[in-house]
Order: sequence, then C-alpha cells, then structure tokens
Amino acid sequence: MSEHTKDERTAGAADIPSVRLPQADRDAEHMQGHWVLAQLGKHVLRPVGERLTKRMLAQVTIAGRRAVEFAPGLGRTTRLIMEAGPASYVGVDRDERVVDIIRPLVASVGGTCVQADAAQTGLPDSSADVVIGEAMLTMQSERGKRAIIGEAHRLLAPGGLYAIHEMGLAPDDLDESVKDAIRKDLARAIKVNARPLTEAEWRELLESAGFDVLWSGSEPMALLKMRRNLADEGVAGVLRIMRNVLTHRDLRARVMQMRRVFNTYGDALTGVAFVARRR
Ligand SMILES: C[S@@+](CC[C@H](N)C(=O)[O-])C[C@H]1O[C@@H](n2cnc3c(N)ncnc32)[C@H](O)[C@@H]1O
Repeated sequence: MSEHTKDERTAGAADIPSVRLPQADRDAEHMQGHWVLAQLGKHVLRPVGERLTKRMLAQVTIAGRRAVEFAPGLGRTTRLIMEAGPASYVGVDRDERVVDIIRPLVASVGGTCVQADAAQTGLPDSSADVVIGEAMLTMQSERGKRAIIGEAHRLLAPGGLYAIHEMGLAPDDLDESVKDAIRKDLARAIKVNARPLTEAEWRELLESAGFDVLWSGSEPMALLKMRRNLADEGVAGVLRIMRNVLTHRDLRARVMQMRRVFNTYGDALTGVAFVARRR
C-alpha cells in the first residue's frame, strides 16, 4: 500500500507543477522504473544521462529541419531540440500526460505532441528530416523494436537522420546466459520487459531496416550514479531527489533494487547511441 496521496506524488517534479506524472496513481511496487525516478524528481530518464545525448545530437543538424521525437517523456531532450532551432517539431508518446507536458514546450514553433504508439504514429510519409528517440526501444520486444524503427524509416525523407540512445550490453560476444540473466533481473527491477542489445545487435537492427549507421557512441551505465546526476539534475535537483528518496520509503525500495541490478552487472550494462541515415 502506498504511503502517499496522489497529489504528493507530483511533488518531485518542481518545474512541471501543474501536470500529474504518468503512473502517479499506481502504487510504487508496480510503477515502471523510469516513472519511479520521475516521481522522485529526476528529469533525465535515459540510461547514461544527458552527456551521451549531447554527443549524439552534436552529430545531427536540427536547425531549420523538421524534427520528430519519439517518447519525449519529461521533455529534457525536447528542450535541447528546441534550442537548436528546428523548422517544426512533433512529439509522439503513448502517454497522455507526457503529451500535456510536451505541448507547451514546443508551442513557439507551432509544434505539437500526439498521443500514439511510435510504431504507428499516423504522421505522413517523408514528413521528417530528423527522428530522435531515447530510452524507448529497449523496452519493446524484438518485433516492437522493428516496428518502431520501420516507422522512423517511413517518416524520414531519404537522407534523413534517425538518432537513438538506448541500453546496451557489452561486450558484443557477451554470453547468452548472462544476457538472459540481465534481462530477467532488469524486468523484475524496473517492471518493464527491458531487452537491451549489444552494440553489434543494435547496429544490425538499424542496418536491416534500411539505415546506414554514421556514428555510434557508448558510455558506462550511469542512471543512478551521483556524479552523472549532479551534472544532469544540478545540485538543487539532487538534493530534492535525495530528500524524496529519504521520505518515500516505498519508492526508495524500488530505487535500491534498481541500483543492485545495475551494480551487479557493472560493465556489461551500458548506454549506447547511434545516428543513422535513411537510405
Ligand atoms: C524511459 S522514458 C524515456 C523518456 C525520454 N525519452 C528520456 O530519455 O528522458 C520512456 C518513454 O517512452 C514512452 N513510450 C514507451 N513505449 C512507447 C511507444 N511504443 N510509443 C510511444 N511512446 C512510448 C513512455 O510513455 C515514456 O514517455
């Protein structure tokens, strides 16, 4: 049983005060891991944090281009995309509360956010020059990953760029039994059927869907590391998260469980990013 009211559950997200966070009405035990972290005040919800995002975006020209973002979440990358001056922006997230968070962030370019499955966005063919999606393919089945990558391909004009930042497994020849153990432990800890892939497997997935990989980068998993959180959330943000961790026993138990899994697998779990060009 949760020890908090629904309204208290929005307390961590100080800069999005009027919007209820996704899954705020679920008890902590069953909430997906990224929304647990969001409830605690965390805004950067991807594996390695914003540093790898910035390295990835540095490879992509956004200024003057039509941008589509899959799964914008709390909008951290949305802000970076907007700062880069796109000609237009469309976000696609299956959660209606995310749509409410993103729409005001993109209003200045007449942008919008639609509530849809990224595998079937309903947007026109060749209507984007850049598609960006982070921490959303990992949580799909193999078929789901292929469907979303196929949709990115359909939305992009020829030569358009698809940038992804996801959870990786290392090294490429990691034993299958270790991969299985990681997937099972992750699913238990984050309540999402996460299926991270090795860098070679991600690359193969993109190439077999009609993309040429132009750039890739990888960094150690740092979602719950202090130094990365200080960089991503700032000192005030980290203090707020720590206060929330201390005062929300049910959410704290979930974070500790996630930490244990990340620590158990150490270097085998990474963040990987790719920029690929539609053939
Ligand atoms: C872990 S959060 C990542 C949010 C953000 N990209 C970030 O990195 O901070 C996952 C997001 O993916 C969205 N999502 C997951 N599967 C989706 C799908 N098939 N179609 C659209 N959105 C999806 C969720 O609603 C959530 O907003």
